[in-house]
Amino acid sequence: MAKPLVVLTHPLFPDLVRKELHPHARVKVARSPADLRKILPQAEGLMTLLTDRVDAPLLARAPHLRAIANVAVGVNNLDLVACRKRGVRIVNTPGVLVRATAELTLALLLAAARRLPEGEAICRRDAFPGWGLDYLLGFELRGREAVIVGQGQIGRETARLFRAIGLKVTFITSRDSDAKIRTRLRRAQVLSFHCPLTPDTHHWLDARRLALLPRDAIVLNTARGPVVDEAALARALRTKRIFAAGLDVYEQEPRIPRALRMLPNVVLAPHLGSATQETRRAMVSLAIRGLVGLLRGQAPGNEVRS
Ligand code: DGY
Repeated sequence: MAKPLVVLTHPLFPDLVRKELHPHARVKVARSPADLRKILPQAEGLMTLLTDRVDAPLLARAPHLRAIANVAVGVNNLDLVACRKRGVRIVNTPGVLVRATAELTLALLLAAARRLPEGEAICRRDAFPGWGLDYLLGFELRGREAVIVGQGQIGRETARLFRAIGLKVTFITSRDSDAKIRTRLRRAQVLSFHCPLTPDTHHWLDARRLALLPRDAIVLNTARGPVVDEAALARALRTKRIFAAGLDVYEQEPRIPRALRMLPNVVLAPHLGSATQETRRAMVSLAIRGLVGLLRGQAPGNEVRS
């Protein structure tokens, strides 16, 4: 039987693709959106990154498409309803990026608490005035209260790392009442997001909820940008309503608003949560295994059930 055609929107790691996908599929890499449109009509499988939007018009160009592997744990770039309507099954990459994302969250937290972006900028401008007793004081994290929004694998791993440096950790989940959320937010000296982006979590942290946080709060977002109302966060940081933020994701990536870039009390990273050699390769491998399983009519463990 002829092997199914799988289209890749990016070359991924060619050595992995050769070793793990070529034995099971004919593989074509789309070199441009026009190229993708040209080869999609024959495709049975598609491998996407979180920067690729898969919506109804794109699916309409792929009448034979049966399976999508999204090389990300977040699937907000895919129109899940449109996929379901067309019988297109989906796999993603849960589990393998948990540690990398939790470690980056911890890095952002430590950098924000100790004002590293400010210090770094001073050093690079060659403007270090010399050691001073009260110069660029941050604070220690031991004994502070951290609240994690989302109790999935990444949230739980982040909690483990936070506890290891002495933070007290509680969670907010989608089942919590508004009253419970308000109580938690009032004590959240660290507030860290590890939930998926859905209509319910869009702008979850808005001006109203920001106003509940203590003045020494640090907000961390390594989940998805739109979970936080960026304009409201920038205002809270500018007016010192909260102490600092550490951000890895933005509402309209790759655009990072000037209102955030100009602030000294925010650590900015360019969506690096899963960006380690081992994790990114593990993500591609897991996505390939899941896709091959779907194309064979199996039920891989990383299938997204919507
Ligand atoms: C994901 O997989 O959703 C991450 O954001 C990738 O870094």
